Amino acid sequence: MNDRAVEEFLQSRGFCVEPAGAADLLAEFDRQMDAGLAGRGGSLAMIPAYLGIDRPVPTGTPVLVMDAGGTNLRAAVVWFDTQGRPRIEDFRKCPMPGTEGVEVDAERFFDALADVLEPIARRATALGLCFSYPTEILPDGDGKLLRWTKQIQAGPVVGRRVGSSLVRALEARIGRSTRVRVLNDTVATLLAGKSAGVVRRYSNYIGFILGTGTNTACVERHERIGKLPGLAPGGLMAINVESGNFDGVVRSGFDEDLDRELPDCGSYRFEKMISGAYLGRLGLCILRAASAQGLFSPSAASALASLGELPNKDFDDTVDNPFLEGTVFGAVPLGDADRRRLIALGRPVFLRAAYLTAVNIAAAVLRSGSGRDPLHPVCVTVDGSTYYRTRTAQFKSRVEAHLRELLGSRGVHYELLAVEDAPIVGAAVAGLSAAGD
Ligand code: BGC
Repeated sequence: MNDRAVEEFLQSRGFCVEPAGAADLLAEFDRQMDAGLAGRGGSLAMIPAYLGIDRPVPTGTPVLVMDAGGTNLRAAVVWFDTQGRPRIEDFRKCPMPGTEGVEVDAERFFDALADVLEPIARRATALGLCFSYPTEILPDGDGKLLRWTKQIQAGPVVGRRVGSSLVRALEARIGRSTRVRVLNDTVATLLAGKSAGVVRRYSNYIGFILGTGTNTACVERHERIGKLPGLAPGGLMAINVESGNFDGVVRSGFDEDLDRELPDCGSYRFEKMISGAYLGRLGLCILRAASAQGLFSPSAASALASLGELPNKDFDDTVDNPFLEGTVFGAVPLGDADRRRLIALGRPVFLRAAYLTAVNIAAAVLRSGSGRDPLHPVCVTVDGSTYYRTRTAQFKSRVEAHLRELLGSRGVHYELLAVEDAPIVGAAVAGLSAAGD
């Protein structure tokens, strides 16, 4: 059943489920990836990881792992058994510093990280630090935070070397130094797919995350990384695309409304269209505007207008099933007509996110130029709660269907892989390479 009033309302603010043709978006992604690699600017940072993908993973050696994500800070000791399976031990987690509504200074930030690691830090001499933010990786394996995303409040950490700062804070506690390797979570996810997929002969690897934030990692030949002259020809390096900052998609009036409310207005606009930190907030912008437009009953409209915040999970769960209890919509007196409107207004947000997610993944796969031979598909390892847990519109299957259309029709063979605890496993692979340096 189409709801003409809702369709007209969304159109009037420039909201489309497919904001541009896929071919145009794929070409724009590719053009900007080229520009980023050449150091010509543009919205894709294309950050070299200084990590190859071909080093064998040592077995039996424990390594420390810390995963600083958008919501949680996790730590563990990891080792690989003789079959190459990761064993994760002494796992611990707490909220990521800077997510709890108070600004954190650099010293407190690194102390908080070291506190979590300290009890397990004596079990290994090397650390893989998965840092899920735009971070310039330095040739020595350390990383300098370029900026925060996902609304983390820890401004003074920007510009700091996160690896050595953490190691120093840890050294003060355990009395000795630890070797460290910093990497992005998408690069870790790519490496986790590589280590899990050894029985297959893949032709190439992609890491993709759609969780609180979003991003992509790919592998590039040294010759294509124009901004790093002097790399040995013939080599391969993992690259952190920072695809959340892609600026090639036309935004709707609602995206602009959402962005204006945020302290980092103007940046990471693609991420703000598809990832878990923002879909609920975007939904709230749409529902408020729709209430003002008379699309809800007066009592529902006034309750919606005064909703302070809308967590993505509540938005998704309610659009999927407007009868669900225990969400922030409990405070909104919804009749059945209101419930239908909620679906009609909310579903397009997830449909657009699924379309853009698929275009993003397809752009990375096509760019690799691999997967023409069915014997050697491209391995796309996907991680992230928003990708796997979004219920509305059968999100994950919808992304998969788009991908079949985008890649299948172009004769490209690929496989979508889920690796449990991918960022932790990949960070262990990277940490072990530091142990061997
Ligand atoms: C960050 C990326 C990260 C992604 C997924 C984004 O906000 O900029 O570095 O990979 O979230 O966690």
